[in-house]
Amino acid sequence: MPSSHNEPPDTLDVPLEIDPGDWQARQIYFLMTGMVIPRPIGWISTISADGINNLAPHSYFNAVAHDPPHVMFSSSGIKDTLRNIKAVPEFVVNIVTLDLVERMNFTSTDFPETEDEFSWAGLTPTPSRCVRPLRVGVAKSHLECRCSNIVQAGNGHIVIGEVVHIHVEPSVWKDGRIDPALLNPVCRLAGSGYAQLGTIFDIPRPAWRDVQHTTALEGMPGRKA
Ligand SMILES: Cc1cc2nc3c(=O)[nH]c(=O)nc-3n(C[C@H](O)[C@H](O)[C@H](O)COP(=O)(O)O)c2cc1C
Repeated sequence: MPSSHNEPPDTLDVPLEIDPGDWQARQIYFLMTGMVIPRPIGWISTISADGINNLAPHSYFNAVAHDPPHVMFSSSGIKDTLRNIKAVPEFVVNIVTLDLVERMNFTSTDFPETEDEFSWAGLTPTPSRCVRPLRVGVAKSHLECRCSNIVQAGNGHIVIGEVVHIHVEPSVWKDGRIDPALLNPVCRLAGSGYAQLGTIFDIPRPAWRDVQHTTALEGMPGRKA
């Protein structure tokens, strides 16, 4: 099928129908990262074989299992974070909250591998409990991970890590769980765009035992503000 548009149009008068090869990789990057939103940010700390601390944000990041818990992030190409994990297969996910967003962004600078981003960003490195990479002391939550696998997909090197230790600050804990408003996480949109949480609402998860005797609309649980 021919592409509906040879490049990103300023305005879209008819639906966009393209194959990834129709546009330059950079244009696809902006399209993908504008569509798969919001993306949580894993602020990944690692350590080199020579003991140099490294810290870099990754928004190709998510939780992928909980028993035992695993997370993933993806390095677009080979960067210091990936090199470090290949040498010392451990990392810490530092959770990014609004108060840390500028320092997080600063650590995405293409520092040479000899530079310690903790020091450049004025962040106190704190020893982790179970892994060698240090954690961002002021972050309100951390996942200490051991790399279990690295899978390549396109230019992405997907690092999968088993979570071996979890840390949460009392300031973000309420009613038996992490309170999203207290945590106040920041997420990534396309380009240099970021966002905070918007309106928070609950929708109970439907169960077949309740749904089976209803019509589609009757069985659908309502939104609870
Ligand atoms: C919010 C944010 C999210 C980012 N997400 C990714 C990502 O998912 N994958 C990636 O390879 N680079 C990502 N980057 C860019 C890296 O942080 C940047 O290339 C950094 O210099 C890599 O550091 P390193 O060489 O120490 O690993 C992101 C940058 C920012 C600001």
